[in-house]
Amino acid sequence: MSLWGGRFSQTSADDLRALNDSIEFDQALCAEDIEGSIVYARALADADVITQAEAESIIGGLQQVMREFDTEAFEFAEGDEDIHTAVERRLTELIGDVGGKLHTGRSRNDQVATDFRLWSMRAAEHLAGELRQLQTALISVAETHCDTVLPGYTHLQPAQPISVAHWLMSFFWMLERDQHRLRSARERMAECPLGSGALAGNPFPIDRRQIAADLGFERPSENSLDAVSDRDFVADLLYAVSLCAVHLSRLAEDILIYSNPAFGFITLDDRYSTGSSLMPQKRNADPMELMRGKTGRLIGNLAGFLSTLKGLPSGYNKDLQEDKEALFDSLETMFLLLPVITASVSSLMINAKAMSEALSEDLLATDLADYLVKKGLPFRQAHHAVGAIVSLAAERGSELSDLDIETLQGVSGYFADDVAGVFDFSRSLAQRSSFGGTSAAAVKLQIERAKATLAR
Ligand code: ARG
Repeated sequence: MSLWGGRFSQTSADDLRALNDSIEFDQALCAEDIEGSIVYARALADADVITQAEAESIIGGLQQVMREFDTEAFEFAEGDEDIHTAVERRLTELIGDVGGKLHTGRSRNDQVATDFRLWSMRAAEHLAGELRQLQTALISVAETHCDTVLPGYTHLQPAQPISVAHWLMSFFWMLERDQHRLRSARERMAECPLGSGALAGNPFPIDRRQIAADLGFERPSENSLDAVSDRDFVADLLYAVSLCAVHLSRLAEDILIYSNPAFGFITLDDRYSTGSSLMPQKRNADPMELMRGKTGRLIGNLAGFLSTLKGLPSGYNKDLQEDKEALFDSLETMFLLLPVITASVSSLMINAKAMSEALSEDLLATDLADYLVKKGLPFRQAHHAVGAIVSLAAERGSELSDLDIETLQGVSGYFADDVAGVFDFSRSLAQRSSFGGTSAAAVKLQIERAKATLAR
């Protein structure tokens, strides 16, 4: 039996039910729905809307329903339109008509908004935990590679040498911003809509502050009309997830490039690599391509849901039911991806030799200009002089360090014999010791600070 059949003389058409029913997916909210109802039953009794004995009976019944879900013994019935209907239907079967008192003053509008916020708060915490594991993995690989040098790129062209630790830690901080976004989304989420009724509020003297506190919210929502249609928390979380995925798609792309045999900088563990059904030699990084690819789907969920919200009139509208599949899908996708990305990072093989072989002296051109600056030449002139030297070396097909001192001095009188010291990649890194730079000392400090952040 539906919750709203009274004014109709015919039941809904089957095809409408197929469209309208949400039980397929919102049964994932069973625990939150029952928790919300238990707290609401208590609030009704505290307000003397129902007796304490009735509340006991309702709560006992709800606990029984929860046990049935937990043991997978719950049987859905024809007409269970959504999780709210299914729980109330089963409650009434178990305890009789008194079950019908639970919904007093409540609407599925404030109910679903409460359930889904509770679910989202927990999902945000779970996601933060998964991200933390990846952050921890990044730190532990980084820690052993503060002195391993690889070419750093801008525009994907060789730029300056950096350490493997510096490269990996750059992703730590992206994820740390994601953590921040999740926390602030979680803070805004912590407003309890229960007690807002359908739109206008609750006519019984229930204590909304108590309800909010009992359910683990920080506070009750301020405006009942806003509360029943506010899905900002869904958009917040979809955005936090999307941007996090954007970060991880960049890590994935780096891993794809660096594991390409043309680079050979890293190798993914066998357990996280895939092969080809045709080409026996292939070693593909499918998990990274899936990270990159699924990011599109996560952004799609965000863009799609924002479009759903746009222009909705005040109050609850059924459009809002679209919130669940979007968020469930985004989080499920992340929970599928993250353990694989974390394990891939933990088991990443770093091929220091291939990295070192890829270090071309071009990467030291900036250091050469800095050398001239230290001798007193203004940087712009130093930049120009080194540009001329790079082009000279290219013409002759020689390395920068092969050019003799006379040739160098032909371009700039500031060159002296000590220029030979510049052609040292480790020295280049050591020079970049300012806060946040790639020198081993600066990166070690960075790692300490990252660990302290995680410990907080
Ligand atoms: N399944 C609905 C949803 O997810 C529950 C709320 C239904 N409210 C209503 N007035 N029909 O949004």
